Amino acid sequence: MGQAILHFQPAAPSERRVTLPSALRLAPDQTDRAAALLAQGQLVAFPTETVYGLGADATNGQAVAGIYAAKGRPSFNPLIVHVADTAEAQDHVDWTDTADRLAAAFWPGPLTLVLPLREGHGIAALVTAGLPTLAIRVPAHPAAQRLIRAFGGPVAAPSANPSGRISPTTADHVLAGLGDRIAAVLDDGPCPVGLESTILGLHGDAPVLLRPGGLPAEALEAALGQPLAVATADAPLTAPGQLASHYAPAATVRLNATAPRPGELFLGFGPMPCDLNLSASGDLTEAAAALFTHLHALNAQGKPIAVAPIPDTGLGRAINDRLRRAAAPRG
Ligand code: TXA
Ligand code: MG
Repeated sequence: MGQAILHFQPAAPSERRVTLPSALRLAPDQTDRAAALLAQGQLVAFPTETVYGLGADATNGQAVAGIYAAKGRPSFNPLIVHVADTAEAQDHVDWTDTADRLAAAFWPGPLTLVLPLREGHGIAALVTAGLPTLAIRVPAHPAAQRLIRAFGGPVAAPSANPSGRISPTTADHVLAGLGDRIAAVLDDGPCPVGLESTILGLHGDAPVLLRPGGLPAEALEAALGQPLAVATADAPLTAPGQLASHYAPAATVRLNATAPRPGELFLGFGPMPCDLNLSASGDLTEAAAALFTHLHALNAQGKPIAVAPIPDTGLGRAINDRLRRAAAPRG
């Protein structure tokens, strides 16, 4: 019988497949189970309003090391810490008046603040990859809020994708990329914003936009009452979002295309014939929410992707930032 023969002829080492347990998919009413896994030092992916995060106990260096291992992430990339509210953030960073004003206006929400680590912060050194500052945010998603509160401490979480790949906006994206390397994913449907948080550096003399994201820079400028400095390409690398080819799909990407060339898939914006449309009505919020989902779907077809022009205002700035990185030559 075939099975018996196989039993006595083990596969050559190169053909041998190790079957790793795949991640649990937990429902929103299983938050306590997800929190217990975090407390054990395990990796749990969870939804935020921006993208799914790959969470670990931020005070447990071993658990945080697991994040870098699972993502295959360069170790110089520090992580964002997620807390339940502003009071908890103040336990970990040196708070400022500007931080207070912005937190009051935009937390919980898609804004990450970079501030100096406070003495006695309790955060594992690996989280900040040696930097004296910490990126911290209070997510608005109810599932993220419940998880952080049930866990009862700070949760370190990068986006839950293999390093350099498209960020996940559904639990299926997470499982496709990391399903054999994490304990669980808390599944609460697609992420409403669809773009990572806006990162603002408050650790220098003036606020600096380190990464455009789900909170439009214009909203920050209005709250600050001043135009924002933007981190330039030759500034020291503090955000991997600054690596040129970050967020790359496997397929090549061509931007500002008015029409597809033969063999290309076309990602549209506004009313136009295309394979997938970010927003047929030209709505940037809808386009942001669809961006990574559509890139995942087109990427799965294994053909080059052409993308229609996107206006460079509001959320369009973050969308264009991600698209430029998707299109950058690979290093
Ligand atoms: O929306 C988001 O921000 C998502 C969700 C899960 O919260 N997270 C996310 O994390 O996008 P990640 O790891 O993919 O990107 C974190 C960014 C990186 O570009 C990192 O370099 C930057 O935050 N970052 C972290 N700590 C920093 C620090 N101390 N100074 C400057 N940038 C920092
Ligand atoms: Mg990321």
